Amino acid sequence: MRIPFLSLLPFLLVATPVLAQTPDKPVADKPVAEKPAKDGKAAAVDFEKQIWPILEKSCIECHSTAAPGPDGKTKKPKGGVVLDSKDGITTSKKGKLIAAKKPDDSLLFTSISLPADDDDRMPPKKKGAPLPQDQQDLIKKWIEEGGSFGSWTGKKADDKAKDAPKGKEAEAGGDKGKDKPADKPKEKEKEAPHVRLQKGLQPLPAATLATFANGPFLVQSLGDGSPLLRVGCAGRSDEVDDTALRTLAPIASHVAELELARSRVSDAACETIAAMPRLLRVDLRQTQVGDTGVAKLAACKELRDVNLFGTKTGDYAMAALGGLKALQNLYVWQTEVSAGAVVRLREQVPGARVVFAAELPEPMAEGAGGARRRAQK
Ligand code: HEC
Repeated sequence: MRIPFLSLLPFLLVATPVLAQTPDKPVADKPVAEKPAKDGKAAAVDFEKQIWPILEKSCIECHSTAAPGPDGKTKKPKGGVVLDSKDGITTSKKGKLIAAKKPDDSLLFTSISLPADDDDRMPPKKKGAPLPQDQQDLIKKWIEEGGSFGSWTGKKADDKAKDAPKGKEAEAGGDKGKDKPADKPKEKEKEAPHVRLQKGLQPLPAATLATFANGPFLVQSLGDGSPLLRVGCAGRSDEVDDTALRTLAPIASHVAELELARSRVSDAACETIAAMPRLLRVDLRQTQVGDTGVAKLAACKELRDVNLFGTKTGDYAMAALGGLKALQNLYVWQTEVSAGAVVRLREQVPGARVVFAAELPEPMAEGAGGARRRAQK
């Protein structure tokens, strides 16, 4: 049963990046060097880039390594199936999750390709629709190609304290009966990007920063004495226009976060922004920026989060943003961006999450066990 992708679109509000990967379409970027395309086939499926994001989004909440949950009680993987580490996937007691080159003997594939109303289908019925056909195909293809994990081993990345569920980490330490470290949402990068970007960066002279004392910008350190800056409009967004933005030029090298939501900036401001090499986050929602301006943001190679909600951004800018390989979150809800452009961007930057429509609240349902455990408390 093949569900046409477009008919699913309204429901796939935040579809995962790999959604649109199809084997017969050439990959937008150069094929990965060590896996040259063979016989016209696209490059091999990359577990970490293409498969892991699917599992992480749709499976991990129920299938992660046993670890203390927010209530301090150990949260066990459902059905004993652990999907957040290579060991977990390859040594499952449940049966073969992956039989190399045999998707039909691989529970990881058979469980997701069962009919939508099958009680054993994963993710479970009560959790929602089956994985989109493209994702199923991709997992199948990955297994057909041998199910290699590349260098991915999963769990045990040196997660930073920021990922710890508030204050629970210390207590969790006592409960390490398990062979795995505590389960935490994984950071993709070993080192927070701002830590890397601030290395060797001299703080700006106080006199330079003092020029902003009278606004309209609020210029602050990212925190912990970082020379990197967070710049916002501090409630004076109606005074922030393209001319005002130009006053940021002397500190452009240090700006890591720029909050310009609902200000009066337009495309010309994007030139100033494009000169901010350490920019990680920019919020331009509900401003007058459009295609030509936004396309210039492609110069900010470190950008992770870009909010363009309610702007005149369109496909031209999307094509340019496809060059932002660090991109993680891109908000293009209520813009002129087309579904096709979103699909292309996801191909170009498989790690990015593109929010193309209003996000619906996630269903609260969990495994019955989890619900019961919470009720008891
Ligand atoms: C809402 C919780 C939940 C989510 C999300 C979920 N699962 Fe499961 N999964 C379960 C439960 C519960 C079981 C145990 C079912 C049983 O033993 O009858 C299970 C069992 C399995 C099994 C073993 C099946 C078997 O026949 O023994 C596999 C494989 C599996 N899940 C894969 C996945 C994959 C892949 C995803 C994501 C696409 C996923 N699950 C998402 C709850 C979940």
